[in-house]
Amino acid sequence: MGQFKEVTAVEQFDMYEFRRVMGTFPTGVVIITAMDASGQALAMTVGSFVSVSLEPPLIGFLPTKTSSSWAALRNSGTTKFGVNVLGNHQEDVCRAVAGRKTNKLDGFEWTLSEHGSPVLQDAVAFIDCDTHSISDAGDHDWVMGSVLDLYTMSTNLPLLFFRGGYGSFAPGSMAINTEISVEVLRQLDLVRPHMERLAADLVTEISLMTLVDGELINVAAVGIPQRRRSSSRVGIHVPFMPPIGGVFAAFGGPEAEELWFSRIHEDTDPEVRADFEAGLENVRRRGCAYGIGHAAGEAIELQAHGAYVSKDPEERKHLEAVVNDAAETFNIVDVERDQDYEFHSATAPVFDRDGVCIFSMTAWGSDGLTSGGDVLAILERLKRTADTATQNLKFRSL
Ligand SMILES: Cc1cc2nc3c(=O)[nH]c(=O)nc-3n(C[C@H](O)[C@H](O)[C@H](O)COP(=O)(O)O)c2cc1C
Repeated sequence: MGQFKEVTAVEQFDMYEFRRVMGTFPTGVVIITAMDASGQALAMTVGSFVSVSLEPPLIGFLPTKTSSSWAALRNSGTTKFGVNVLGNHQEDVCRAVAGRKTNKLDGFEWTLSEHGSPVLQDAVAFIDCDTHSISDAGDHDWVMGSVLDLYTMSTNLPLLFFRGGYGSFAPGSMAINTEISVEVLRQLDLVRPHMERLAADLVTEISLMTLVDGELINVAAVGIPQRRRSSSRVGIHVPFMPPIGGVFAAFGGPEAEELWFSRIHEDTDPEVRADFEAGLENVRRRGCAYGIGHAAGEAIELQAHGAYVSKDPEERKHLEAVVNDAAETFNIVDVERDQDYEFHSATAPVFDRDGVCIFSMTAWGSDGLTSGGDVLAILERLKRTADTATQNLKFRSL
């Protein structure tokens, strides 16, 4: 490897062999989108998508030079394009876009991104790009895009393409390094129908966490998130530290409470610590935890997961700073019926038949403002669902 080389030796294989062997490698599927100058939505189904660089943020894909879809994208009159990561429920979009020559998105719901490219409804993720470079790659072009913005949109598993067929990912080892007991999984199955009903009622995403070895693990998510940046992907781990996991600290017994407070950094401002203590009392009194303020809530979720995964001391320090900044976001504000709030999330406890807090159930808020009356109604509905799930665990798992 290293230098470019002219291939001089006679290849020991034909193109069919090349395709057959390459076909043993599965890919995800994305739809590349752009708007042309006349306002027509352009799209192309692509399996060769790859994340290229973090600094600067770059992605890439390889369109075949003879593709009319690629020609249309290349001549669209804009350098902007979007990458829609397809979920396993979107095989129809994948086939339609790959098969049609024009009007490829007709019949499918989409909106325009901030930078002007079509965003498919219900895609797993969207990446807003500007063309960085196009270079020669044999019978394909190698296109790199500078990432302008990116976010997840649904918690569906991604669509996979393998040996000419479509499939999905079966998460075998997503819960990194952690055993979730069969007993917990069995109880999760009993809770899931209650989550589904709540997700349908509130038209949002409902997720479920459990506490294992001092870590919170997201074990289930149902429904469709209302927020643009959803962070409740199944398998995500976050450290059990204030103000995250307040429900387990409040209802998990003295040991859980002690563990939670022991995770606060020793240099933490006494005022921040006092906020956490007051917040915990509020969680007990209200029967649920909630976060008001989108920016601090999002920062904490994203940073917490990153810090957990990397275990880098610098990341950890940054997490502590983000957590301190978010202290007032969680469990402090008393919601008034006639005011509006940036309602981020609310979480209620689910207990097993021994009265141990086994899960925390979270209802996710929507972008922008929610009226206090609506927030209070959501809190009541969430608590009732968590209580019903608790009752179910009591009687069904005997
Ligand atoms: C799952 C899947 C992945 C694909 N990946 C690529 C790709 O990475 N590059 C490419 O040029 N075409 C890819 N194609 C084919 C194009 O989507 C398109 O169907 C093909 O270029 C047909 O040519 P047209 O654009 O002239 O209609 C893929 C098709 C499917 C179904």
